[in-house]
Amino acid sequence: MTQYKVPVIGGDGIGPEIVREGQKVLDAAGEVFGFDVDWIEFPHGADHYLETGELVSDETIKELGGYKAIYLGALGDPRLQPGILEKGILLKLRFAFDEYINLRPIKLLEGVETPLKGKTAKDIDFVVVRENTEDFYIGIGGRAKKGQKKDLLEVQRDLYSAKFGLDIETDSEEIAYQIGMISKEGTKRVMEYSYDLAAKRNNHLSSVDKANVLSDIYGFWRETFEEVGKNYPKVETDFNYVDAVTMWFVKNPEFFDVVVTPNMFGDIITDLGAMIQGGLGLAPGGNINPNGTSMFEPIHGSAPKYKGMDRANPLATIWAGALLIETLGEKEAADTIVKAIEKNILEKKVNTVDMGGSAKCSEVGTDIARLVKELGQN
Ligand code: IPM
Ligand code: MN
Repeated sequence: MTQYKVPVIGGDGIGPEIVREGQKVLDAAGEVFGFDVDWIEFPHGADHYLETGELVSDETIKELGGYKAIYLGALGDPRLQPGILEKGILLKLRFAFDEYINLRPIKLLEGVETPLKGKTAKDIDFVVVRENTEDFYIGIGGRAKKGQKKDLLEVQRDLYSAKFGLDIETDSEEIAYQIGMISKEGTKRVMEYSYDLAAKRNNHLSSVDKANVLSDIYGFWRETFEEVGKNYPKVETDFNYVDAVTMWFVKNPEFFDVVVTPNMFGDIITDLGAMIQGGLGLAPGGNINPNGTSMFEPIHGSAPKYKGMDRANPLATIWAGALLIETLGEKEAADTIVKAIEKNILEKKVNTVDMGGSAKCSEVGTDIARLVKELGQN
C-alpha cells in the first residue's frame, strides 16, 4: 500500500473543522484506492501565535519543506490586525516553498445552481492559473512625509534578487507607495505551466493583464506570454484586460478553458470565478510548486463567526483535498472525490445551510466519504 505523509494546518476560525472533513474523505478514498495517508498536525494560526509568539518559524518551514503537499484550512482571526497571519503564515509559506502557481478550478458541478441562470455544468469548466509570488504581492513599499527621504526596497528570492534605491521628494502632506514587479524567470515559468496545462486540456489559453494602463509591468507580461507561446503552436491564445475579463466570466464562461493571470488580478477574478461556480463554499485552490512543496486550501477565509459551530461548508476543502491527492499521483481517487461531491449535491439530502440544507459540516464530510466508497467500488 502506498503511504503518503501529509502535514495539516487547520488554522483559524472554521479551518480545523473543514479540514477534518477533508481528511475523512481522503482516508475513505485511500481505503478504496489502496493508499494510506499519515496526517501530521501543525498548530499554526492565531491561537498558536498568541500563545507562543510564533507565526511560522524557519525550523517549521524547513520541516514542512520535506513534504510534497500540505493541507491547509484557513487563516485569519479578528483578535489580530488584518494581514498579520495572512502575510506571516500564508504568504510566508507560499513564498518559502516558491509555490509559483495558484491553481483555481472554476467548474460548475452537476446539481449546483449557478447564479448565471441558463448556464450549466458544461458551460462553466475552466482553470485559472494565478501567478503566486510576484506582482504587487512582493510586499515592498513605504510612506514619505513632505520633504525628502531615501528608501531602499529589496526583494530576495532564490530565483533572483532586486533592489530599488528610492530618492523621494514630495510636497504632498504624505505619500504612500507600493512597488509591483514581475521578472522574466517568474513570468516564463507560469506561462510554461499554463501552456502545458492548456495542451493537456483543450488547447485554449487566455491571458489577463492591464497592458493598456500599467504598460511597463503588464506589457512585459504580455510579451512573455507571446514569446513562450511560440513553443506551443497548437494552443490558441487571446489577451483580455482584467476589467473586460470579469464581464466575460459572467457573460460567456464557456469561452474559457485555461486562464493565466498576474497575482493581484488573479486574486480578484478568482473570487468572481468562485461565485459563478456556485459560491465561495465550493471553490478550491492549489498553491503549486511543480518541483517542490505544494499547499492546498479552500479559497475562502476562516469565517471566525462560525468557528466551532460545525456548520461551515466543507466542500471547497474536500475538493482541495482532491487536488492534493491528484498531485500525489492518485488521479482516479481525485476524480472520484469530485464525483462524490457532485452526487452529494444532487441528492440534496446532506447539505450545509448555505446550500439550502440543514446538515452539519461533519455530516457532509461523512456523507462524501460514504459516496467515495460507493462510487469507488463500482
Ligand atoms: C487568497 C487570499 C490571499 C491572497 C490573502 C489572504 C493573503 O485572498 O488566497 O486569494 O490575497 O492571495
Ligand atoms: Mn483572495
